[in-house]
Amino acid sequence: MRINEPQVVAALSDLGVELRSGVALADMTSLGIGGTTDVLFIRQRKHLPELVSLLQQHGIAHRFLGGGTNLLVIEGELPWVMLHLVRPEPDVRIEGNFAWVDAAADLGRTVTFCAKHDLGGMEGLIGVPGTVGGALRMNAGAYGMQIGSYVREVELYRAAAGRLETLRGSEISFEYRHTSFAPDDIMLAVKLELPSKPYREILQGIRVCNEKRRSSQPLNQKSAGCIFKNPAGASAGRMIDELGLKGHSVGDARVSDRHANFFINAGHASAADMFALIADVRERVRAAFGFELENEVVFWNG
Ligand code: EPU
Repeated sequence: MRINEPQVVAALSDLGVELRSGVALADMTSLGIGGTTDVLFIRQRKHLPELVSLLQQHGIAHRFLGGGTNLLVIEGELPWVMLHLVRPEPDVRIEGNFAWVDAAADLGRTVTFCAKHDLGGMEGLIGVPGTVGGALRMNAGAYGMQIGSYVREVELYRAAAGRLETLRGSEISFEYRHTSFAPDDIMLAVKLELPSKPYREILQGIRVCNEKRRSSQPLNQKSAGCIFKNPAGASAGRMIDELGLKGHSVGDARVSDRHANFFINAGHASAADMFALIADVRERVRAAFGFELENEVVFWNG
């Protein structure tokens, strides 16, 4: 979708929003798949309510794009413009056991920044690509921990109310890869409370998690992490592996040889290839094991 109306372009500039026209989402997603649209780079979060209402008034559909690391997007000219937060400097502030973190902050860098201030707990998240906002929205987790456990406050744009709000951690439910945020809420910042731990000890935990991840996940290939959620009491990766599907492909979309719940863009995979591979694997798992696998990756397919 393109923003051409001079009146809208002028209003965006008044709101301090930078409009970049014709951006390929293939370049803004870890899978390297996705069509083209206009992207609005937002610096001043306080203007978000005005920005969204401006877009609504002009019938311009929008979606929020964070780090793009857990996303599979259709191709062609996309029917939505993207909102994207520009990362401020600094993006983390520490006070005692609290870390105030901007949603656009890189998750891994935040974990190491907090570690340097002797604040631990998030070692498992090292190596999870993406922003803190994305991790918050999905309740990212690994190696027995999840970010939701440390959340004390969240600043967000509440789409239903059309305004910025601050929620207490206790007002938000964090479940396995699921939160009570509405799909169109936009995360802006989070206050985490982290346990004190000596830097060296945290670093040791980070090394162990990094090593586990390197040995079991295809880190240097284009993917969106695990494609499916694990059903209660079962492992999607193990089931796909047991079906002998490692290396199984549709076009350049391929089940990773290293971890069967990671699907790789091995070259020029199209969105259609990836959707077809996902549907095929889901059906085979259903037929063999009786589990209806749920997507872990977010699909933007209309
Ligand atoms: N397994 C296989 N073959 C495979 C992959 C896994 O047999 O190809 C077996 C493993 O040997 C292990 C079991 O399946 O016994 C579980 O595998 P793993 O420890 O790799 O964890 P997972 O359940 O597949 C989950 C998360 C990951 C997270 C890891 C580490 C989900 C869907 N996945 O994977 O998160 O990094 O645990 O804690 O919850 C993500 O969210 O994108 C993601 C990758």
